[in-house]
Amino acid sequence: MSTYLHRARLQAECLAGRQGVRILAIETSCDETAAAIVEDGCRELANAVYSQIDLHTLYGGVVPEIASRAHVEKIDAVLQQALQQAGLTLQQVDAIAVTQGPGLVGALLVGVSYAKGLAYAMEKPLIAVNHIEGHICANYLTSPGLQPPFACLVVSGGHSHLMMVDKKDGYHLIGCTQDDAAGEAFDKAARVLGLAYPGGPRLDALAEEGDAHRFTLPRPHTEGRYDYSFSGLKTAFINLVHGIKQRGEPLPVADLAASFRRAVVDQLMDKALLALNERGETMLALAGGVSANRLLRRRMQAICNERGIKLYLPELKYCGDNAAMVAAAAHVRLRHGQVAGLSLNADPALRLV
Ligand code: KG4
Ligand code: ZN
Repeated sequence: MSTYLHRARLQAECLAGRQGVRILAIETSCDETAAAIVEDGCRELANAVYSQIDLHTLYGGVVPEIASRAHVEKIDAVLQQALQQAGLTLQQVDAIAVTQGPGLVGALLVGVSYAKGLAYAMEKPLIAVNHIEGHICANYLTSPGLQPPFACLVVSGGHSHLMMVDKKDGYHLIGCTQDDAAGEAFDKAARVLGLAYPGGPRLDALAEEGDAHRFTLPRPHTEGRYDYSFSGLKTAFINLVHGIKQRGEPLPVADLAASFRRAVVDQLMDKALLALNERGETMLALAGGVSANRLLRRRMQAICNERGIKLYLPELKYCGDNAAMVAAAAHVRLRHGQVAGLSLNADPALRLV
C-alpha cells in the first residue's frame, strides 16, 4: 500500500467519529464546474457553481470537448470562490471528495485529476463519489433529519431510477427506465418545440401557461411494474408536432409543452406511488435535475399529503448538478472508511446498483 493511502486511511478513521468534519468536494461530470464545502455531511459552508450553459447553447446540447476545456479553465477559480465563501483555507478542510462517474469521461477526468493533486499535495484523504449517490444525498442537505429507509425517485438527464435507500450507503433498484431518461425526454421535446438548450427547465416554464389537457399522449406499457419508458411518448409527441406543422397551423407551444409535461409527470408519479403503495413505504425523496420540475413537485406534494406519505424535496439549488451533494455523499463514505487511492480513475459508466 502506498504511503499516501496508508496515511489517508488512518486520517479517515480519526475523522469518522468526529464532529465538525469539513469536506471539500469537486463536481465536473457534465456541464457544471462546481466546488463546495460541507460540514458533517449536511451543513453547507460554500457552494460555488460555474454553469457552462452559454458555451453549449449555440450547439443545442453539451459538446464534450468544450465541457472538458471549460472545466480546466474554471476549476481553480471555482475552488477559490468556494474557499472564500466559507472563509476557510485549504489547510482547514479535512478531506477532498470528487465525482468519479457516471458522466462525460473527459469532464470527469478534469475533476478527478484535480482532486487527486489536491489530496496528495495537502495530505488529505480522497473520497470518490458516484454522481447518482450525490443526487440522492442532496436530500440530507435540505433535510438533515432524513434517515433511511426511504424510497427515492432519481430523475436526471441520464437516469430515471426508483430506488430504496436501505441505509445511508445501501441502494436497491426497484424500477428504472427501459429507454430514455425523463430529463432526456424533456430535452428532446423542448428541442422539437424550438426551445433553446437546456430544454427541460424552459419547457417546464412554458407549460405553466398552457392547457395540459389539450393533447392526449400515450401512456406506455412496461415489462416491470415499476419501470418507466419515455421513447414511445417522445415519438408520439414528435409526430403530433410534425402533423400540426404540415397542416400549416401555428404551433400552440404552451399547450404542447403542458400536455407533454403532464404525460411525463403522470408516469413518474403513477409508478412511484404504485411501488410505495404495494411495498408499504411511507417515505419518498426526489433527486436529480428533473426534481426541479414544478408540476412534479406540486402534484407529488399534494398526493403525498393526501396519502400520509412524507415527501422530501431537495431545495432547487441542490436539484441540478452541484458539489455540495457530492460532499454530502462523501461524508457517508468517509464514515464507512471508504477512501480512494491515487490510482483513482474516472469511470463514465460507474453504476450505483
Ligand atoms: O441532474 P442533472 O442536472 O444532470 C444529470 O445528472 O443528468 O439533470 C439535468 C436534466 C436535464 O435533462 C434537464 O433538462 C432536466 O434535468 N431538468 C428539468 C428541469 N430542470 C432540469 N426537466 C424538467 N423540468 C425542470 N424544471
Ligand atoms: Zn446530475
